[in-house]
Amino acid sequence: MKKLKIVSISSELDPFVKTGGLGDVARALPKSLHRLGHEVIVIIPLYTKVINIKKHNLKEIYPDVLINIDKKNSIKVSFWCGELMPGLPVYFVRCDKYFGKKKNIYVSSRENARFYLFSVAVLKLVSLLKFKADIIHCHDWFTGLIPYLKTTRFKDSQTLKNAATIFTIHNLTYQMGSNWWDVPVELRDKGKLALPDFKSASLAHINFAKRGIMYADAVNTVSETYAKEILKKNFGQDLHRILINRQHKLFGVVNGIDYYQYNPKTDKGLVKNYTVETIHRKIVNKRYLQKLYHLPILDRTPLICLTSRLVEQKGFDLVIEVLPILLSQDVQVIILGAGDKKYVQKLNKLAKAHADKLIVIPSHQEVLKRETLVYAGSDFFLLPSRFEPCGINQLISFRYGCVPIVRATGGLSDTVINFDPKTDKKTQGNGFNFQNYKTAELLVALTRALETYHHRQIWKDLIRRGMSASFSWDLPARKYLELYKKAKSFKQEQ
Ligand code: GLC
Repeated sequence: MKKLKIVSISSELDPFVKTGGLGDVARALPKSLHRLGHEVIVIIPLYTKVINIKKHNLKEIYPDVLINIDKKNSIKVSFWCGELMPGLPVYFVRCDKYFGKKKNIYVSSRENARFYLFSVAVLKLVSLLKFKADIIHCHDWFTGLIPYLKTTRFKDSQTLKNAATIFTIHNLTYQMGSNWWDVPVELRDKGKLALPDFKSASLAHINFAKRGIMYADAVNTVSETYAKEILKKNFGQDLHRILINRQHKLFGVVNGIDYYQYNPKTDKGLVKNYTVETIHRKIVNKRYLQKLYHLPILDRTPLICLTSRLVEQKGFDLVIEVLPILLSQDVQVIILGAGDKKYVQKLNKLAKAHADKLIVIPSHQEVLKRETLVYAGSDFFLLPSRFEPCGINQLISFRYGCVPIVRATGGLSDTVINFDPKTDKKTQGNGFNFQNYKTAELLVALTRALETYHHRQIWKDLIRRGMSASFSWDLPARKYLELYKKAKSFKQEQ
């Protein structure tokens, strides 16, 4: 295959800045494409309160570049450069007025303005670099205006002329800087009119994700099941109709995880490294984890972890209902993750009442610090999401021999095969799932899981199957290359 020139654009990028799975994908996919021999550059905003310029050895390459956001408004930015790995540059758009004021990278009252400005600056940067891209890959709503701008304001750019655009939906709930459903129906963006003035209040009504879907040469989501689910009204977040109309250019590619980064054999975050051949060593991590979080050190008590943003999507309403029943049994539960206050309060209350069984740590920092140790030390990973475009944590769980219990939706449905001792799934299952978003069904799945845990041989086989399956980026990266090819051919057909 011809070597492609690819620009990958995102709002977050591990290890510089990450709040969720998007940061993982933005890191791992370009690295895999680079390893496959393609020329990739990555562009993100420079959040100066979060990204450590010195630590990451970032260098300013273009100071004081005037960006004409629209006919009336312009702003000065600077462009910086660092490295994701040798030979894979990351460029940063620096504009402190919009990206350097807060520690929280997202909550701003002018979110649409920030990412509009970023989008124009990105296209300007690509032109300055004279990077004659074949592919411009845009991740989630933050970058949704780029395909639109490319076909309108930047349509005559010589550098961008041959580039096909891909818009990847990581989560359709998030379409713009505010909740799409809070915009009055008559003010909702139809995606066809020119953008309002940068300073005008109506910029806040522009739906970036919708424009991304409408103007990109190809669109994809991060799992095959989610790509089908979003065509239905109850998953489509008001965009199901435009998605149905563009079904021929909508695809699903299940995410992977970086197998170099996540490797229990070499991971320095563990107290004891192990492989599928030495699973018995995993117990050392479990004991350490129990000690660290002041739980009784009990080898045979199943330890369930839940590492996730504490938001409705991830199924916390079910979790909170189920916990009192679950905790009446011989189990331990560790919940790690920042999020909505209402869940934090309820979980903290439960943790107080069950101090020897339930630990709740509502800190994003702690997740980043202990992430893999938690999987290495736990027996189960729980994620009963209401919907899940892909989910990354169940893939990390597999890698660390931690068995997932999930709701069969989106990417969870594509990656977790239900273990059922009564059918031939007995030799295929790698976890436990349930179908409907109901407390009773979650409880049944948990009961099946805990029961299986006590059949040691069956249990070990289950862990082994998860650990042996490959969820590396190797295959998804190749699927993206196929998708890029399709995007190029769709572009030519226009
Ligand atoms: C979003 C989705 C999650 C997905 C991640 C990376 O965070 O909610 O399911 O795994 O993006 O694509």
